[in-house]
Amino acid sequence: MDSLLIKGGVPLHGEVSVSGAKNAVLPIMAATLLTPEKCVIRHVPDLTDVGFMAKILASLGARVSVDGDTVTVQAAKLKPVGDYELIRKMRGSICILGPLLGRQRQATVSLPGGCIIGTRPIDLHLKGMRDLGASVTVEGGYVNVRARRLIGCDLFLGGRAGPTVLGTANVMMAAVLAEGVTTIESAACEPEVVDLAYFLNKMGAKILGAGSPTITVTGVKQLHGVEHEVIPDRIEAATFAIAAAATDGEVILHGARPDHMHAVLDKLKEAGVKVVRKGLTLTVTRGGRLKPVDVTTLPYSGFPTDVQAQMMVLMALTPGLGIITERIFESRFMHVSELARLGAEIAIEGPSAIVKGGRKLSGAPVMASDLRASAALVIAGLAAQGTTQVNRIYHLDRGYEKIDQKLRGLGARIQRIAQE
Ligand code: UD1
Repeated sequence: MDSLLIKGGVPLHGEVSVSGAKNAVLPIMAATLLTPEKCVIRHVPDLTDVGFMAKILASLGARVSVDGDTVTVQAAKLKPVGDYELIRKMRGSICILGPLLGRQRQATVSLPGGCIIGTRPIDLHLKGMRDLGASVTVEGGYVNVRARRLIGCDLFLGGRAGPTVLGTANVMMAAVLAEGVTTIESAACEPEVVDLAYFLNKMGAKILGAGSPTITVTGVKQLHGVEHEVIPDRIEAATFAIAAAATDGEVILHGARPDHMHAVLDKLKEAGVKVVRKGLTLTVTRGGRLKPVDVTTLPYSGFPTDVQAQMMVLMALTPGLGIITERIFESRFMHVSELARLGAEIAIEGPSAIVKGGRKLSGAPVMASDLRASAALVIAGLAAQGTTQVNRIYHLDRGYEKIDQKLRGLGARIQRIAQE
């Protein structure tokens, strides 16, 4: 398994382009299953998760080709089941369930894997599909959904932690080919859901309200092929912005969508980070002394859980008490013990992490536990004195396009070490 060797203490300087959003491209790739016609997706990031999704679509009978950042899919004919081993490896693969149910009126998908950040149920996805008229059974680790007819209805998708992003995507994709009108209440408002709805509408779907908690889908008989460019990755952009502030550097981010990043940019400002916006370009520097802040993760447009770990590193470098409360996933503090190995002082109290910031961080070998935790460890390694080895970086490659290369372009001393 590869690891990253980081010689820290070097401020990041330079310019970097934001890649396409992982969380937008995965459901969009799944949505191509809804039509037998060819779909072309552009600005696709080069990630192992995208490679997995391409293989899953191919295992279902679709023709998939990748040319640079363009993925072309044509699902002329579909097989009823895909490669379970592949599907098991990636949480995002659950979003093939909705399109398969919509187009074929049946799907069998293994319960998904992915990051270990608490139990990741799919009860809300299944509830939505049941409401549309599907029968759902879970057997031997597989979910079977079947429907003779899918009938539009009013359904509620709110859960304990609020709306579900992929659940909304899944139900929306099943509903586009249902009969009649489906209204999804407590829908996720994330920009990635909006991008998917935009893609589906270009295919001929009739979706209104995406980006708000009420989405209305009027079913259509069939969908057609389209071309689409995926939105920029707001989580990657936030990660680079925090890395710039953490290392006291200056980074210019091109091709960002600051309108998708209000909560993060607002918190960074409160923490004393200067972000200058000019169109789709963000210039990030430390404005002066960093200040501790309280952060609570919430569904969009609140502070994203996917930026919680990175923000914690910034707080670890900021003198004073920072408080980070995680409201979306219950076990998303696995990075805390690894950050402690670098010298950070962080105590967990229920859903909150109390960060006694301002301790000197020094390099150490650390273990990446999930995608965003890995990004946090990289930022901490860049800010720490000495050498940090981040092990198990396959998590990073799932969600950050060429992160080591991009960071090297900003002056970081970071090297990938291939291990058997
Ligand atoms: C997506 C993102 C992930 C992000 C998360 C929250 C993708 C590929 N992944 O994951 O990066 O961290 O949104 O912004 O887009 N829940 C249930 N029942 C369900 C589904 C979810 O109780 O059926 C709960 C989850 O346990 C969690 C909360 O709802 O507490 C939100 O999860 P959800 O929005 O579904 O996350 P994902 O869509 O899996």
